[in-house]
Formats: sequence, structure tokens, C-alpha cells
Amino acid sequence: MANEYESRRTFAIISHPDAGKTTLTEKLLLYGGAIHAAGSVKSRKSKRSAVSDWMELEKERGISVTSSVLQFKYDDIDWNLLDTPGHNDFSEDTYRTLTAADCAIMILDAAKGVEPQTRKLFHVCRMRGTPIVTFVNKLDRPARDAFDLMSQVEEVLGIHTVPFTWPIGSGDLFQGVYDLRNRVVERFQKGEVGKRAEVTLKGIDDPELGKLLGDEPSATLRGEIELLEGAGEDWDEQAFLSGQLTPVFFGSALNNFGIETFLRDFKALCPPPGPRLAGDVEVRPEDDRFSAFIFKVQANMDPSHRDRVAFARVCSGKFEGGMRVHHARLGKQIRLNRAEQFFAQDRETVMEAFAGDILGLYDPGIFRIGDTLSSDGPLVFDAVPRFSPEHFGRIQLLDPLKRKQLQKGIQELAEEGTVQLFTQPGREKDPICGVVGRLQFEVLTFRIQHEYGAKIVFDALPYTYARWVEGAADCEELDRRRVPLAVTDIDGRPVALFRDQWELDRIARDNEGWTFHETAPMLAGA
Ligand code: G4P
Repeated sequence: MANEYESRRTFAIISHPDAGKTTLTEKLLLYGGAIHAAGSVKSRKSKRSAVSDWMELEKERGISVTSSVLQFKYDDIDWNLLDTPGHNDFSEDTYRTLTAADCAIMILDAAKGVEPQTRKLFHVCRMRGTPIVTFVNKLDRPARDAFDLMSQVEEVLGIHTVPFTWPIGSGDLFQGVYDLRNRVVERFQKGEVGKRAEVTLKGIDDPELGKLLGDEPSATLRGEIELLEGAGEDWDEQAFLSGQLTPVFFGSALNNFGIETFLRDFKALCPPPGPRLAGDVEVRPEDDRFSAFIFKVQANMDPSHRDRVAFARVCSGKFEGGMRVHHARLGKQIRLNRAEQFFAQDRETVMEAFAGDILGLYDPGIFRIGDTLSSDGPLVFDAVPRFSPEHFGRIQLLDPLKRKQLQKGIQELAEEGTVQLFTQPGREKDPICGVVGRLQFEVLTFRIQHEYGAKIVFDALPYTYARWVEGAADCEELDRRRVPLAVTDIDGRPVALFRDQWELDRIARDNEGWTFHETAPMLAGA
């Protein structure tokens, strides 16, 4: 086993809906040879994902509900792309998927810059120090000034930027990009999708530049590059690897423009699996001991089998089909019999895997998000955080005879991480559901009816913040101190619900000894 992990690259793509994630994913898969025709990922007009349309709801609504994990080979590298739901309303899944990635591509729409969803997802990467590579998309459309975009990224996200390519015009005047590191102009040829003409220059003062681009555009480009070279940030790989600095690329995913250059550089930038912390232990990918953690549980991926799949990210050692591992939370040995990997549309049984790989483990109901599996005794990876939901609702069961089905459904969906359950003391029978996006209530209503046979509706509650309260003993104490709604989470910890920031600030002012946490650690091993 000659350091197989070194040829693994595990990454995710973060963006606001419509920035071009599906289009870029498709192009990456196309170049990687995992699919053979553009349009496979999403049949364009129907806006439907073919790669991840595991669920009926996805087909009905034409949106991507589940995260899919895609594997493809490109230039001797095994790429694992953790695809994340693009819809505004499915971010909780996305959050946790990001914790399994070693690197992230951040796509920005050149006309819009940093958008709310980008900011949230960025925040998750930041918490873990995940390196981020930025791709500014849709340069073929009217765009914001490239300097403005870069300073927006710096100001709003608090990360330094270093352009690797620079746009030459935008919209109708878009002529291509200048590759700053190789001193190459890549010409954009409208209508000739995928074809690009590269011209190597002897620096930005090369007399050919004027002939190539026209006098005015070349003078503008010269001015801009001079400015960048004079006042711009220097490239610092360590700062990139620790998530402090992002290289920026410009292009157009739809027109295949700038993609190859981006992919070439991304290949060099995206780091192989690195060490991860399990308490005091630093687990290194080259360690002999096999270890992995579960970052996603997906029920009913294949309706004809009604199966449940737990997605595990391998962190060290070698996985072998049928191997026995220690399940830290359950405190016992289990055998990993059925494991699958995902190659574009297909699922394949996998017999061996290495650090960086994602395994789809058949789950008879023993896995929860955050669980650690390891050979050679127990190990518990630092927890995958659970994020504050933004919408809350109480379930109303329409057919009281279906309470058992409802309980089973809601329990399984909570373990899957689709919904967070909270209990209000005294009303244990009517759990409160918390979700990140409102549309998830629809998903839950649909799934509980179709997969578990219980018809429900949600009564919306007016809260928008959940805060795990450190310093408060229990719900009673929260109640006494006039917290708007005191509940417990699935692990019995006290949680305060607030309608708005003002309420939160008021309670914080009155209770200085309390600390309010926006995320709750998953109790792996608890
Ligand atoms: P998402 O997954 O991030 O939500 O975005 P997606 O790739 O679905 O792209 C959103 C829309 O933007 C799509 O158009 C897509 O074709 C378009 N798009 C993506 N990249 C570019 C680009 O580089 N230039 C231009 N001009 N458009 C781009 P749509 O009309 O919503 O859907 P469709 O009918 O074209 O599929």
C-alpha cells in the first residue's frame, strides 16, 4: 500500500443557488471522463439532476434534495466530489458534508459577488480552516468590476485573495482571461464552445497584446495587471492551506471557458487528505489503523430496497470489505459488509478504500452522524457540529392512529440529520422540529407520508434562533430566567429558542454567566 491516499482529492463546491454549481460540476465530470455528454448532470430545461435524483420529491419538484458523492479519475488522481444540494433550503446537509472535504471550490456569480448562502457555507469552511479556491463565473454576462469583487470577498468573508487569472472585459466585451502566473492570454471565442486559443506573451508589455485585444482593452489590462503586481497580495501556500487566502479564477462554466486552466491549477492546489484530530490523537492518513467518520445518513435512497446508507469519510489506513471495526458510540465491534462507492450515476461495491475516500455503508440502523469507526480499538473524531436551525414547527398528526409510524419516521429523519428535534418539557408527545430552510418542512411532510405512511402538517412557530446554553443547568433554569422558549435537544441539552436577535441580546445581557452557542457539537461517542 504505497501511500494510496496521496492520489486522493476530496472536495466540495459551495455557492449560492444559480451561481453555476451544477454547470461547473458537469464540466468537471466531463473533463474527468465520468460522464460523456454535457447535460447529463442536469437536463437543462427541466432543471432536474440526473446524478442525484434518488428521490421522488426531487423528480416532482425538479430540485436536488440529497447530497451525492461522485468519484472520478482525472490525470491519475481519484477525485471525490461531495456534491451538495444547491437549493437555498437545504443547507444543513451541505454544512455537514463540508466537514468531510479537504478543499472547497467557491463559485461566485460575477454580477452578484458574495451572496448570503455563500457566506454561510464559507463560514463552515472557515471553522475548519478548509482551503478555498474561488471561481468567478458568468464572465460572458455583464459583470461587476473584478477589483470590486475581490475586495468584497476580502471584506465580507475576511479572507485574502490572490488572482491566478484576470478577466479581459466582460459581457459582450469579454475577450478572455489573462493567466497571471504563466503570462498567457486565453482568448474567448463566442459560439465556439470549448475551443480556446492561447497566446503566450512575453509579459504584459509584449507588443503583441495590442494586436490581440485592441488598443483600449490592452491598455486597460496593462493598467490592471500593473496595479495587481504592485499592490496585490503575494501568493502564500501555507496561508491558502490554512484557509486564510484564496486563489481566484475567472471564467464561464456554461461556455467551457477558463475551466481547463482552472482544473489544471485546482489539481495542483487541492491538497491530499491531511491529519485530523480525535481528541488528543492526531490521526494521519498514512497510519496503519483504519479510521472513518459518518457525515451523512440517507434513508430510502433506492425506494425499491428501502435501504439506508451511511456515508463515511475514510481518514486513515485501508478499508477492506468485510472488515471488523470498532464503533465508538456503541462501544462494540461491527463488521462492515456492504460498502459502495459512487461513480457518477452508478453505485459499485467497493472492496478496498483509503484515506480521502467516501464509502456508502449499508446501514441497518446503527449509524448516526458523527460516529467514528476504527480498527485497533476505540477512537472518537472531533465532532461534526450541528447548526442552529432557522425555522421551527410543531408536528400535527392528521391521523392519530399513525403515531407509531410518525415516531419511527421522525426519529430516523432526525438521525439522518434532515431535521433537528427539540422537546418542550411537559409536551413530550409533540416534538418541535427545527430545519435550516423552510422548504425542508415540505420535504419532511412528503417523506413522512410516502415513506412512513403518516399524514402530517406543520404548525409554524415564530422562532428563528436556537442557542445551546452553556452555564444553565436545565430547562427549568432557562424558564426561570424568562427565555422565550426553553427546550432540550435530542441529547437532552438545554436549548433556548428566540424570535430575533433583539430577544437574544436581551437575555444575554440579563445572564452574563451564560454562553450562547450557535452550533452544538454532535455527541460522537456519547
Ligand atoms: P446552480 O447549480 O448553482 O444553481 O446553478 P446552475 O449551474 O444550475 O446555473 C444556473 C443558471 O446559470 C443556468 O441557467 C445556467 O445555464 C446558467 N449559467 C451557468 N454558468 C453560466 C455561465 O458561465 N454563463 C452564463 N451566461 N450562464 C451560466 P438557467 O437558465 O437557470 O437554466 P438552463 O435552462 O440554462 O439550464
